[in-house]
Amino acid sequence: MTRTEDDQGADDVEKRVIETSGLTRVYGRGDVAVHALRGIDMTVDPGEFVALMGASGSGKSTLMNILGCLDRPTEGSYVLEGEDVSQLNKDKLAGIRNRRIGFVFQSYNLLPRLTALKNVMLPLMYNGHQSLSKGEMRERAVSVLEAVGLGDRIDHRPNELSGGEQQRVAIARALVNDPSLVLADEPTGNLDSKSGDEIMALLRQLHRSGATIVMVTHSAHDAAKAQRIMALRDGRVTARDLGVEAARRLESVTSLEGEAR
Ligand SMILES: Nc1ncnc2c1ncn2[C@@H]1O[C@H](COP(=O)(O)OP(=O)(O)OP(=O)(O)O)[C@@H](O)[C@H]1O
Ligand SMILES: [Mg+2]
Repeated sequence: MTRTEDDQGADDVEKRVIETSGLTRVYGRGDVAVHALRGIDMTVDPGEFVALMGASGSGKSTLMNILGCLDRPTEGSYVLEGEDVSQLNKDKLAGIRNRRIGFVFQSYNLLPRLTALKNVMLPLMYNGHQSLSKGEMRERAVSVLEAVGLGDRIDHRPNELSGGEQQRVAIARALVNDPSLVLADEPTGNLDSKSGDEIMALLRQLHRSGATIVMVTHSAHDAAKAQRIMALRDGRVTARDLGVEAARRLESVTSLEGEAR
């Protein structure tokens, strides 16, 4: 999309879930500075399912952390649902993250001592849902766990669940607050292909029910399940709508790069 099309009509801009302009992120300073993002302009519309591909070190997680309000850009703007969040302080960012964003990580990031149910209830407790009673929180967490097919595992701790099941708990936790944006950084990265396909089926189902999703993946097979594929290279966007064939080529190039290291 050209800049002029982007700028057309305030309504369109307001409807976007994500709009970034010139996002940069520099880690460290001076000689050791790493320019992880070098000017990212991207938009994501409501209900879109976008896959983000690129070689290891190209800046995918750095970008996801900024989109997820876990980190701030060094420069540039990030407008989330019409609100510029790029300069907010840590507390404000945490508030936005808790209310509007569901994050799914490659390594699940569940609390090992808590049951699946408690892990899913946690965001509700932190979210200032003062209006919800403990019982209502429980009810809500149970219904999301049921939706991801884990109704019969709610009292299991993470080490009593398979990898695929743990990732489903993590997805339930990401969804329990009914977020405007679901971000998944290599959600199938630690899973065998069958469990990976189950997670992808779940994300597709979520997308069909109207969720806005951005997912990082190294797999063209998984990226093909998204609506649109974006590619990063050395901290820059190299494609906004990569075809599946091109994604397959990108996958083979980036996996060769990985093997060469
Ligand atoms: N906290 C940090 N401090 C310094 N440099 C960092 C930090 N985090 C990431 N980097 C560097 O920034 C660059 C982008 O890293 P990032 O984690 O975003 O890559 P990625 O595309 O997610 O890679 P992968 O596919 O391996 O997960 C890399 O060169 C990395 O070494
Ligand atoms: Mg990464």
